[in-house]
Amino acid sequence: MKRGLRSFASDNNAPVHESVMRALHEVNQGDAIGYGDDIHTLEAEQKFKEHFGQDVRVYFMMTGTGSNVASLSHITRPYQAIVCSDKAHLENDECGSPEKISGCKLLTIASDDGKITPEQIAPFMLSVGFQHHSQPKVISITQSTELGRVYQLDEIRRLAMFADEHDMYLHMDGSRLANAAAGLGVSMAEMTKFVGVDVLSFGGTKNGLMAAEAVIFFNTELADGFEYTRKQTAQLVSKMRYISAQFSAYFSNELWLSNAKHANNMAGLLASKIQDIEQVSITQPVETNAVFATLSREAIEKLQRQYFFYIWNAGINEVRWMTSYNTTEEDIHKFVEALKEALK
Ligand SMILES: Cc1ncc(COP(=O)(O)O)c(C=O)c1O
Repeated sequence: MKRGLRSFASDNNAPVHESVMRALHEVNQGDAIGYGDDIHTLEAEQKFKEHFGQDVRVYFMMTGTGSNVASLSHITRPYQAIVCSDKAHLENDECGSPEKISGCKLLTIASDDGKITPEQIAPFMLSVGFQHHSQPKVISITQSTELGRVYQLDEIRRLAMFADEHDMYLHMDGSRLANAAAGLGVSMAEMTKFVGVDVLSFGGTKNGLMAAEAVIFFNTELADGFEYTRKQTAQLVSKMRYISAQFSAYFSNELWLSNAKHANNMAGLLASKIQDIEQVSITQPVETNAVFATLSREAIEKLQRQYFFYIWNAGINEVRWMTSYNTTEEDIHKFVEALKEALK
């Protein structure tokens, strides 16, 4: 990516939010005990508990992949299996680490929007008790999905009930949890703890933080010993106060929500500006901060000279345009102008 090129590739490309930077600066005074035994970490954990309830166990992590892999390996045995969509980050973008570290097989379900249902999972239950097959133990869903879609509360509740009935756990990859909560207009607890999620990979990095993620256990029995798994998966940060301070800033003045709402609104604005352009087809309803669309390869290449973004599905010339808390209305207007120009 050329210096100064505006990115519509990923919310990962946005800078750290300035109030988070300020919090980092403020915490950067004097000595503090490492590995989380410091006052800033205690304060940040308390903020999580204000949102999710006192009866949760929270562990700060550095990456989303690390949160997924550590939490999944902690709640499984290597002969078990994790059911997820074929679009899941777990399946496509974690370099095989869920399999390597947990030893579990991923059982994937074909999905156009990244969502899965109990009906699609049911056939895997035929393997239960059959010693030649991996034993399904976890359902992992992504909220919001890799296609920018959101599970409704009822859809999550049904998956949780199915997991319960089959002695399985429900894991949520909440790398973009805030965008989903903003999209649905519910709290993060309503979308997770209250609908039966057992363990959550809580994302911060994509919504204005820097290498600040967390694993939250709602099913607290599963948390026992997780501090050792976190260390074994190389996710225990020595200078923890710099992660903790970011989370405290994230929960202050509902920064998480205003950032996510803004990112979502910018994707909505982009979609509204391009929906009538004949040569562009939007391929997914825009529910959070991503717009998926098809257009000619020639136009894609022209636009990529000015903007950084990914081709999502080369076979059908589908691109992903992603917005962040940092995208402005002016960015959208300029991008749409450049798009129109590229289509000429
Ligand atoms: C859905 C989803 N889960 C997890 C991650 C993992 O994040 P990281 O790159 O921090 O490992 C990402 C990152 O793009 C993601 O999109």
